[in-house]
Amino acid sequence: MIKIAYFSGTGNTEYVAKFLAKKFEEQGENIEISKIELKNEKFSLENANMFLILSPVHSFDIPWPVYKWIKNIESKEIKTSIILVSAGGYIPENSAAIRKIRTILKKKGCNIVYEDMVKMPLNCFSGMKNGETKSILNEVPKKIEEVVVNIKNNVKKEIKPLTKGIILSKISIFEKIFSRLFAKGYVISESCNLCNWCVENCPTGNITIKNGKIHFDLKCTLCLKCIYGCPKKAISQKIFPFMVIKNGYDLYRFLGKNAD
Ligand SMILES: Cc1cc2nc3c(=O)[nH]c(=O)nc-3n(C[C@H](O)[C@H](O)[C@H](O)COP(=O)(O)O)c2cc1C
Ligand code: SF4
Ligand code: SF4
Repeated sequence: MIKIAYFSGTGNTEYVAKFLAKKFEEQGENIEISKIELKNEKFSLENANMFLILSPVHSFDIPWPVYKWIKNIESKEIKTSIILVSAGGYIPENSAAIRKIRTILKKKGCNIVYEDMVKMPLNCFSGMKNGETKSILNEVPKKIEEVVVNIKNNVKKEIKPLTKGIILSKISIFEKIFSRLFAKGYVISESCNLCNWCVENCPTGNITIKNGKIHFDLKCTLCLKCIYGCPKKAISQKIFPFMVIKNGYDLYRFLGKNAD
């Protein structure tokens, strides 16, 4: 059985993970897929003969909850593939992210056999133009097929970190601090009906309802899930608005279909 675990803020990595799972299933593989969330119990690789981990790239690194989650995996010697999902794909700036995650997984006994990067649309700042977003999404099925064929055929692939990437990834320490503070810049409008969607869907459990009001703690990872996903569009970012696409980000609108 192949166990797939993924972290996703705005759905890009989830889409890639589910697409991979579907392709492996079509090849007769038995798949178990899990979200990486801090509320998860200890993750076990028992009964699996292969492990795939997927994460978005955040500031030339991976989001801090992914590191925290990996530390909780029960150690097991197992064939492992790492897939990073980012807006830049295999550019020097993103190459170092894989180095750190590889080192930690190796300590858990994982035998890293395959590493790759999948390019998906940018989910922050001012986003991408519609045409660019669509052309990136058109390339995804081909890339997923390539990854599945490579893994099935035991192709070994290692992403070599480039010096520029290693230097830039040092900056990510500031992003980790910034991201924890990020939700403190959120303001909730009167249209919030306390539906609880953000509370249930925040991957770090950073959102609670206190005294009838939404409260953000210091466990944000700047994934942007709550601000784009709130059904009432009740969340806005007052202190760091430059990080957020003005009209939101909805992957499934670009794909022209519903999630699942
Ligand atoms: C805080 C933040 C930092 C990001 N940093 C990078 C980066 O360094 N390199 C890159 O190519 N994309 C970067 N991105 C874009 C995301 O990696 C990309 O859009 C990804 O597909 C989002 O995946 P998700 O929807 O599963 O969260 C960043 C996005 C966010 C929110
Ligand atoms: S998802 Fe939006 S409407 Fe629902 S509780 Fe959160 S902020 Fe309020
Ligand atoms: S508070 Fe919002 S942006 Fe921060 S981690 Fe939770 S869902 Fe993501």
